Amino acid sequence: MYVSSLKLQDFRNIREASLEFSPGINIFYGENAQGKTNVLESIYLAGTTKSHRTSRDREMIRIGEEESHIRMEVVRRAGSFRIDMHLKKNRPKGVAVGGVPLRRAAELFQLVHLVFFSPEDLGIIKNGPGERRKFLDILLSSIDPIYLKDFSLYQRCLTQRNHLLHDLFARPELLPSLDVWDAQLTEIGARIIEKRQTFAAELETAAASIHEKITGGAEKLTVTYEPNTAAETFAEKLRAGRNLDLRMKTTGAGPHRDDFKVSANGLDLRLFGSQGQQRTAALSLKLSQIGLLEEKTGERPILLLDDVLSELDRGRQTFLLDSLDHTQTFITCTGLDEFVEKNFSLDRVFRVDDGKVSAVSHPQLG
Ligand SMILES: Nc1ncnc2c1ncn2[C@@H]1O[C@H](COP(=O)(O)OP(=O)(O)OP(=O)(O)O)[C@@H](O)[C@H]1O
Ligand SMILES: [Mg+2]
Repeated sequence: MYVSSLKLQDFRNIREASLEFSPGINIFYGENAQGKTNVLESIYLAGTTKSHRTSRDREMIRIGEEESHIRMEVVRRAGSFRIDMHLKKNRPKGVAVGGVPLRRAAELFQLVHLVFFSPEDLGIIKNGPGERRKFLDILLSSIDPIYLKDFSLYQRCLTQRNHLLHDLFARPELLPSLDVWDAQLTEIGARIIEKRQTFAAELETAAASIHEKITGGAEKLTVTYEPNTAAETFAEKLRAGRNLDLRMKTTGAGPHRDDFKVSANGLDLRLFGSQGQQRTAALSLKLSQIGLLEEKTGERPILLLDDVLSELDRGRQTFLLDSLDHTQTFITCTGLDEFVEKNFSLDRVFRVDDGKVSAVSHPQLG
């Protein structure tokens, strides 16, 4: 699949842009702090409702403005469609596909598949369990519509249960409703745990084979799912923790507390990995994401590479660039020399200068 065009209005430092893309390699180049990452962020946001940098919409609206608009046209084998996203300062964002508002923004995960490589990827390995869950959840939601549905149902149940835990303090007569929420939570939660279990094994197989190639066989990567509770014991654990939940006014047990561990040669990379090892493991996970998405959906996802080439050594760079065949790719960089030297086919080049994005024809690029 590919993005054929993008229109931005008051997104970060970009007042206005109207861009047509190639289904091949698209490059954004320019000095630091001009708006290159902002363009990639807008594509990722329009395709997933998530920014890789912030969870606050208002940060992405151009300073001094009230609203921001993104319009993106996506081409898939089954046909093309338009996504309209509307960011507002004090209200949730609005998303429409083909002019029809989406009830749940997460439905986008099924429509557009994007893989974003950025320096922040290190966080998947280095940071807390939340980032690893997000990685797993977005990927699983993109390939499994039932998971997507269960996942949002679970979030809703969890929020309701936590609200109830708050209310029970003043209204103890509501206690029977807690049993109802617990039953729902355990039923949906069990399905989520089982799916994550199965999928973590697939992710491991895919990522380990890539990791082995990147490290020349030196490192064996393992991905171990670490559920907060097994599916069978979830109900029991919830019951056992009820008094504590009532005191803390939050739900202690369940898949919302899951984690997965990434190790190389048996060593937990989060705790013991060097910066380079962590970066390589994150790269292996991301690259396996491309393969898994293609295998499960029959279409190549779109790649966004923000500043990653400069952070990788030559071997890893080559490995990454070799995986770009038949894949729409957006790359940010500060200069074009390196691409020209390598005879890299740059299908479309944009210069980004103080929030202005303009298509350029480069004589050397043919
Ligand atoms: N909401 C906003 N309104 C206006 N300007 C913003 C907003 N958010 C960020 N900016 C500005 O956008 C500018 C460009 O940001 P961006 O991260 O895209 O730069 P870049 O071209 O990727 O630079 P680098 O090469 O350093 O990564 C920054 O200088 C920042 O101050
Ligand atoms: Mg940048």
